[in-house]
Amino acid sequence: MSNQALLELEEVTVRYGGVVALDSVSLGLGEGEIVALMGPNGAGKSTVLKAVFGLAPVVSGTISWRQAVLDVAAHQVVKLGVAFVPQGRRVFTQLTITENLEMGCLYLKDKEEKKRRLHETMELFPVLYEKRQEKASAMSGGEQQMLAIGRGLMADPKALLLDEPTLGLAPIIVKEMLEKIVEIKEKRNTSILVVEHNIRSILDVASRVYVLDKGRVAHDGSPDSVQQSDILTKVFLGAVE
Ligand SMILES: Nc1ncnc2c1ncn2[C@@H]1O[C@H](COP(=O)(O)OP(=O)(O)OP(=O)(O)O)[C@@H](O)[C@H]1O
Ligand SMILES: [Mg+2]
Repeated sequence: MSNQALLELEEVTVRYGGVVALDSVSLGLGEGEIVALMGPNGAGKSTVLKAVFGLAPVVSGTISWRQAVLDVAAHQVVKLGVAFVPQGRRVFTQLTITENLEMGCLYLKDKEEKKRRLHETMELFPVLYEKRQEKASAMSGGEQQMLAIGRGLMADPKALLLDEPTLGLAPIIVKEMLEKIVEIKEKRNTSILVVEHNIRSILDVASRVYVLDKGRVAHDGSPDSVQQSDILTKVFLGAVE
């Protein structure tokens, strides 16, 4: 973990009834990092992101933001500067692109600041500018995913949590999406925690990787360390104990 830890989970356990979704998971996201969360279906990847947002039943452990422990029951992480783009590109199909983006900063009263954020987001995703007056239903899957990320950016976050941003997208769009993720980090200095199943693509851009398996951290290290170990083969074949 870098010294400038933004987000930290320490020994976090999440339980849904009898199902232990996270079992004493410790992980962190530092300033200016792209951290990848990988692992097979049901490993607990989405649960990590939900736990940060108070959307999963945390039974023990702590979650902190800039070294201050978050009260999971009451915290308002968005206002601290964390945005969450959940799995499944949820956009408001009957609203225009601009209206969708504005949903990302509903609480913001400052019109100039809202304009500035719209401009910045549309600059990052030119397709959102081109189609700004069209309904989101008229967009392709990749464009809708960009819209979902753009809406997250409208909150002007310091950290962005992305759940499977490339799911179901064509390889060329996957590549573009990962380039955008790097661009967001570089241009806005946003730290990014991303759940990703496109192993090769994400290992190219991540600063660090956590491999989750059955609710536990099975590996934590650089992309190289992941490639050099046989951890992915093990977890995806279900051989990790
Ligand atoms: N609302 C819920 N109620 C009960 N069990 C749940 C709930 N949400 C998740 N789980 C269970 O918690 C475990 C972790 O789920 P999670 O969605 O975090 O996995 P994941 O790694 O994101 O998987 P995927 O790759 O399929 O998205 C799984 O066993 C899942 O069935
Ligand atoms: Mg998931």
